[in-house]
Amino acid sequence: MRKVVTKAIFPVAGLGTRFLPATKSVPKEIMTLVDRPLVQYAIDEARAAGIKEFIFVTSRGKGALEDYFDNAPQLEQELRKKGKDELLEVLKSTNMDSGEIAYMRQHKPLGLGHAVWCARRLIANEPFAVILPDDVIAAEKPCLQQMVEAFQETQSNIVAAMEVPDDQASAYGVLDVKEDMGSIVSTNGLVEKPKPGEAPSNLAVIGRYILTPSVLQKLNKKRSGAGGEIQLTDAIADVLRDGEDVYGYRFEGQRFDCGSKAGFLRATVAFALEREELRDDLWSYINDIVHADKAAQ
Ligand code: G1P
Repeated sequence: MRKVVTKAIFPVAGLGTRFLPATKSVPKEIMTLVDRPLVQYAIDEARAAGIKEFIFVTSRGKGALEDYFDNAPQLEQELRKKGKDELLEVLKSTNMDSGEIAYMRQHKPLGLGHAVWCARRLIANEPFAVILPDDVIAAEKPCLQQMVEAFQETQSNIVAAMEVPDDQASAYGVLDVKEDMGSIVSTNGLVEKPKPGEAPSNLAVIGRYILTPSVLQKLNKKRSGAGGEIQLTDAIADVLRDGEDVYGYRFEGQRFDCGSKAGFLRATVAFALEREELRDDLWSYINDIVHADKAAQ
């Protein structure tokens, strides 16, 4: 019988040190792109892909993130009273059903693989998705949906993949490509954060995964890898070594690295330009500064 992916893990336990001092009190995942928290983009993408259970792996200090997913009856009532129907709809679209969302605590920052492993009991014996909310992907068809469709065919592990410049490969998990079939590639292996000049290709893993439960079993070993952390990439490479298939999927869409300030700013501009009510104003501002800059040269 064909397996269906209905559960997704969202690792959100990171300290977000790159965004200090903001992240002293604001979890990085609820920092906003225009007016939606980063995590809302991830939730919307997962829902579009058919995900029914949303598992957040959190840590100390992420209370505001949990609160964000609560319904806000008072706020709704107020908007209703004031006839702000559009805003009311926006607000309602962020509501989660009871039991749809679960929080699991990662007690120690031992790495992405460890964070995913923390959710093992909620996954049990099913294929599952992992979404890293830092990687925001703007796409006509949401990235995870593209991957779920590919999974319907392959029924095996799939990681999102994207070509990166050679000198950036060591910031990623990188695929050792076996056969390149266009949007899908089969792999011989995966390497987390290869040393400069040692990457097996320039096809990097981006934060969307569909994985089989055997990856969780590999994570049981708690082997530490690159940076002394338990790496998800290593567990995926282990199941490949055991004979399972692992595919890279070249998604259609534009990826923003919202784990970095520059990426976050780019995403902010890109998403703002998509918004009718902001586009003209922002364009004219961008034009002004570009012209001023050229005139000064
Ligand atoms: C994580 C993964 C890495 C992947 C990257 C994508 O790394 O470990 O394999 O390429 O996300 O964003 P991080 O960026 O957390 O160091």
